[in-house]
Amino acid sequence: MPHKPFTIALSGKGGTGKTTTSSLLVRALISLGETPVLAVDADPNANLHEALGVTVRETLGSMREEAFTRHIPPGMNRHKYVQYRFRQALVESEGFDLVAMGRTEGSGCYCFANDLLSECMGELERDYHFIIIDSEAGMEHIARGTIGTPDLLLIVSDPGARGLRTIARIREIATQLGLPKEKIRVVFNQYKTGTAPVDIGSEEPIAIIPDDPAVEQADLQATPVSQIPADSPAGIAVQRLAEKIIALAKARQDQ
Ligand SMILES: Nc1ncnc2c1ncn2[C@@H]1O[C@H](COP(=O)(O)OP(=O)(O)O)[C@@H](O)[C@H]1O
Ligand SMILES: [Mg+2]
Repeated sequence: MPHKPFTIALSGKGGTGKTTTSSLLVRALISLGETPVLAVDADPNANLHEALGVTVRETLGSMREEAFTRHIPPGMNRHKYVQYRFRQALVESEGFDLVAMGRTEGSGCYCFANDLLSECMGELERDYHFIIIDSEAGMEHIARGTIGTPDLLLIVSDPGARGLRTIARIREIATQLGLPKEKIRVVFNQYKTGTAPVDIGSEEPIAIIPDDPAVEQADLQATPVSQIPADSPAGIAVQRLAEKIIALAKARQDQ
């Protein structure tokens, strides 16, 4: 019997490394045998596909608009059509699939469309062990329920005092959305050797990802960051993070 996938949403202010961490996490989970992984790009500024080296044909946002404006093929009801298009929007790759939410603004009420999307997501979910959501700081999709409540929220932040304020703000939003404290963990990214991460109280960050020249190089050369050497500092740190996440998922299953 397929078990419910373990959902991880990555949040944090722009440029903190959500996309980098998401893509490295997808790769690490694949390498640890947890296939298939579903990667969800929930950032309106979608670029997770680039980090993973795949092409997105269409986003759910564009599909949603179309499903309500265009002619639906004969013999298909709207529900079937949206499901069919959802499958089309899904990019299948080795060890993972990717779907991009796209932009969500627009006029009118999209409640019905959103319901259909949540349903498609629900039906899809059965195939996956892990779902990685590269999210935006506002956590709009979580708030709207399109992608459900994550099993784990990773707040990606720089390890400085500036980052702390954002961590506190995201924590507050997440708590308001009903996420229990133990499901919210901090990831410090771009940690430079010799600097002490800022004190975030009694809680330990779940991962500290070093500032890695290989990540910078991938960015400069426009190659997928998920393809940096597995033994690069960021690769190793995310691999350890993936192991911890697998342990958390296992603990949930044993409950
Ligand atoms: N650990 C790291 N080491 C070096 N550069 C990094 C690291 N993490 C992220 N970066 C760089 O920081 C920038 C922002 O990262 P990105 O993952 O796109 O952030 P976000 O998705 O949060 O906006 C990119 O140029 C990326 O290459
Ligand atoms: Mg990003």
